[in-house]
Parts: sequence; C-alpha cells; structure tokens
Amino acid sequence: MCGIVAYVGPKDAAPILLEGLQRLEYRGYDSAGLAVVNRGLKVRKVKGRVADLAAAVPARFKGGLGIGHTRWATHGAPSDVNAHPHLDGAERIAVVHNGILENADEIRAKLVADGVDFVSETDTEVLAHLIARAVKETGTLADAVRTALKAVVGTYGIAVVDAERPGEVVVARNGSPIVIGIGEKEMFAASDVAALVRYTRQVVHLEDGELAVLKADGFHTFTMDARETAKVPLTVDWDAGHYDTGGYEHYLLKEINEQPETVARTLRGRIDDRFHIAHLGGLNLTPHETRAFRRVKIIGCGSAYYSGQIGAQLIEELARIPADAEPASEFRYRNPVVEHDTLYVAISQSGETYDTLAAVQELKRKGGRVLGIVNTVGSAIARECDGGIYLHAGPEVSVASTKAFTSTAVAFALLALHFGRVHDLSPADGRRICEGLRRLPEQIREILGREEEIAALARKYADRPSMMFVGRVRGYPVAREGAQKLKEVSYVHAEAYPASELKHGPLALIGPDMPTVAVVPDDELLDKNLTTLGEIRARGGQVLMVGHRMAEAKLADDCIVVPKNEVELDPILLTIPLQLFAYHAAVALGRDVDKPRNLAKSVTVE
Ligand code: F6R
Repeated sequence: MCGIVAYVGPKDAAPILLEGLQRLEYRGYDSAGLAVVNRGLKVRKVKGRVADLAAAVPARFKGGLGIGHTRWATHGAPSDVNAHPHLDGAERIAVVHNGILENADEIRAKLVADGVDFVSETDTEVLAHLIARAVKETGTLADAVRTALKAVVGTYGIAVVDAERPGEVVVARNGSPIVIGIGEKEMFAASDVAALVRYTRQVVHLEDGELAVLKADGFHTFTMDARETAKVPLTVDWDAGHYDTGGYEHYLLKEINEQPETVARTLRGRIDDRFHIAHLGGLNLTPHETRAFRRVKIIGCGSAYYSGQIGAQLIEELARIPADAEPASEFRYRNPVVEHDTLYVAISQSGETYDTLAAVQELKRKGGRVLGIVNTVGSAIARECDGGIYLHAGPEVSVASTKAFTSTAVAFALLALHFGRVHDLSPADGRRICEGLRRLPEQIREILGREEEIAALARKYADRPSMMFVGRVRGYPVAREGAQKLKEVSYVHAEAYPASELKHGPLALIGPDMPTVAVVPDDELLDKNLTTLGEIRARGGQVLMVGHRMAEAKLADDCIVVPKNEVELDPILLTIPLQLFAYHAAVALGRDVDKPRNLAKSVTVE
C-alpha cells in the first residue's frame, strides 16, 4: 500500500509531486521519494514522512517531468535506500511502484548472475533493471515497460520515467490503482484522485492489464499487447476542500463530526414516503430477480466487514432472507461454493482493497451476482460489481474508518428495506423504518454534542492496558467495531466478544485491570445483557455501558446514553460514541491519530 504520483507539463514537477504525495500519505508513510527529469535524473528519497522529503528536496530540482512515491514497506525495511523511486545502474530509468512482485527474488538472482548490482532490498528494483535493459532494444519506453511487465508476476501500479525521454511518463496497472488526471496542456497520474483534484477533476481510471503513455498534450492507453484502448473521462465531484481538516485538529475528528451530513447524503433521494420503500436504482435488479434470491452473503475487510455484520442482521430482520457476513480476505482463499440463488454484496470504502477485489473477481468468475456498497466512485470494486449503492460520504482521509462505516450500515438499512418491501415487510413496518432513517442525522448530531462527556470517559480509561467490548446480537458488531477503533488509533489492546460467550472463557480475564465496554441496546435482550453486567461487576470488572436506559446506569460504573431509534437501526447510533471514545483515548495517549503505526488506509496488497 503505497501512493504514487506523476506529472508531465510546463510547470515544475517537484512541488506538484510533493503536494500530491501529501494527499496520498494515508496510503503509507514510512518513507517517501521523488525523481525529476532535467538533463538526467534528479532523485531524493528519505525514510520518514512527506514533510521530511519536502525539506530534503533542493530548490534546483527543476523540470516538468517527474514521479513520486510514499511508501508502506512490504519488501525491505523502511530506509532511504529502500524508498522509491528505484533506478537502474546507469541512472537512466526511475520507477515508483505500489504492489508486490512475487517472483522478484527469482528475477533478481538471474540479473545478479548477469552482473547487475542491486542497491536496495525491494522487489521494485528488479523492474528498473528490466526496463533499462529492454529500452535499449525496444526503442520506446512503453515497449520496454511492457517487456519488463511480462516478466513479472504480482500486482502493480507503476510510473516510469526515462532520463533520455524528458517529455513522457509511462504508467501501468495490475491490481493496484492508477488514475490519470487530464489538465490543460499537462497530465497527471496517481494512485487516488485525492492527489489530483487540486489540479483537475477530469480523470480516467486504468483497468488491470492497461498501460498509458502521458505527454503534456494528452495520453494514450493500451493493452499489454499494445492495442490502443478507448477511454471516456469521468468528472470527479470531490474537490480539494474535501481533503482539508476543516479547522479540526485531526481528520478523524472531522470525519466523525461530518456524520450527520454524510448519513443525510447516503439517504438523499432514496426514501419513498408514499410506498415506504427505498429507491436504489443502481442495484440493477428487477423485483422478480430480487425475490429469487434465497440467501445474501456479505464480504468486506476490517471495519467494512463489521458494518457487513450489521447489514446481515438488518437483511435477516427486515427481509427475512438468511444473510451473513465474512471477511473477504478469508472468503477468497477458501474456494467458496458460489450458489446461483445467493446474492453477494461486497463492501469497500476505498473500492481498492485487494482482498475484497480478488473475492469479487473470484465470484464473478464463478458466475455469482455481486452488488457493491462502495464510497469511491469509479473505483476498481465499483467497476467490477454488477450494481450497487454508492455511499456519497465524501473522501475518508483518516486511516481509521468512521463515516464510511456508518454510511455503509445506513446503505444496508436501505437495502434491507428494499428487499423487505419486495418480500413481506408490511407497509407499516416500512414506514417505521423510513421514519427511523430520517431521524438518524439529528440523533447523530445529538451524540456528537456529548463529545466532552465521552472525552472525559476516554481519558479515565485510556491508561488501562486492555479493554473488553461485549454486545449481544445487534450489539455485537457494534462491540467489534468499538474494539477495532480503540486498538487501531490508541494501541490499547481491546477484545470484542458476544456478551453470551463471556462465560465460556474470556470471563477469566475480567478483573480490575480489564474494564468492559458493554453495548446494551434497549431491545428484547436487555435483561440478558444486564445479567452479563452483573457477572462482570461481581468479578471486580469495571463497566462502561453504552445504551439507552438511564435507569440501568446504576448497574454500570459509567454510562453513555444514546438516543433511541427503531431497534433494527440502533446499532448505527450506538457506534458513534465508541468512535469518539477511541479518538479521545488516542489523543490522551499522544498517538498519531490519523496515521496509526503499521497501518495504511487502502490495503492494495494481499
Ligand atoms: C478500520 C479500517 C479498515 C478498513 C479495511 C477495508 O478503521 O479502516 O479495517 O475498513 O481495510 O477498507 P475498505 O473499506 O477501503 O475496503
């Protein structure tokens, strides 16, 4: 998971590359580098952040062609030498790469046997040497890149420059995203539109197996067999403002606070108050086809998977169709049985998560019907699916997902309402859900209004080495997401368990050093949950209850009361205070909130 950016045009490339890399830093932030072509290659690479690179790039780095990279290490530890770009021995070719080359060791051994000297431990360096060898024979950089790529096995998004061709950059994609940005007499390319929107909103996504040659006056795209492909540019509706912190201290806090608006956007135009149904035109499913599905299988990774668990419960409850969620990263490796009467739903904020994409591709190969619930318009997963729902939550920059998680759960509520009303959900229940959905933005605002109270609790518990999160049925995915957020951003160890499972093992962990966050909605399982609270407290465990009823607060040491909605929709609201809890625990512990250690936002490698 790295970020790459490229520029060719009349301006100096270096400042544009640095600005682009800053926007892509969420993809990886252990080292960064750039190369500019100007009578030879000028290269700077540093271990550290893009700001460290900016400080190291001298003013004399002039020239209108360049490539840049921000790295999340896969092969070789973070270091100046392992940072990209990578060059061939003659310092003619420079390559930046996002992805993993599986046969790099094999190729490296052959090249070493031929007398090639390697300077880094990375897989990418083999590409620089292969391209440099090929360019002497092929004549064009595009052909040389093609020749080199035919020799490698693995995933890549790459950008390549040749010091002897100062007017062009070649980019190629297989499994890692590349977006081309079309400017006025200038061209850009990057791993994500985030790096481009300051300069252009006209973009073209490369498909897997495509290569493009960019020159200041335009671009051409080709297959790996050198056949030219036709592309229709897309207009991005996110602008540079979406990528600022907007006056908040961190993107994470900004994105948590955006949720009343982002949920409203996910709902906009999709609720029909006359028939109490959801309008989801993008599904590409007739009512007849919808009725024919006997099962729904949801896949996604990390927080996307947890929001899928909320989704599975919504679909079962409202539509009475059996539904379950599974990590896409597991699903793809277990040779899943793909049934013709199962509807598959893939979830992804970025639309680029490699495990989810690979699972979707496997499903499609086996003839499965796949819907996508995706935030990033035009992303690989969105393009691969047969239909779906866009979240319209705007770009999520902080590594930890918040607004996309919530919008995904809301999109599932719409999907469950839609399926339910095609099946047997009564108009009265349909109306109940429609009204509940409409109340969500205001209720989220109400929870956000309690930030100070939640921050005080986060400060109180942040110094504990470990925390347990429990919930029953509707509360369980909420507990999982709460634990995920806490460990990701604060590095406090957190475990999530179904409340009912505590007594089957983890209760042994409970004691004064292991407080429990208990998700206790006011639903038919309230009494069972209260019994669990009693069991925890009887063993000396402290309890922070997140729920609906003040009266029960006396059973807990601390309590966050959340506004009540319909039982099916309550999990959406119960998650919000846990996001604030994790954020403030991380701030109290002095963590790098938006860029937690070892993580990157888009996991575009296996
Ligand atoms: C957690 C988090 C990750 C992502 C996961 C999937 O806060 O952000 O667990 O949810 O990597 O990413 P997407 O949704 O982009 O496929």
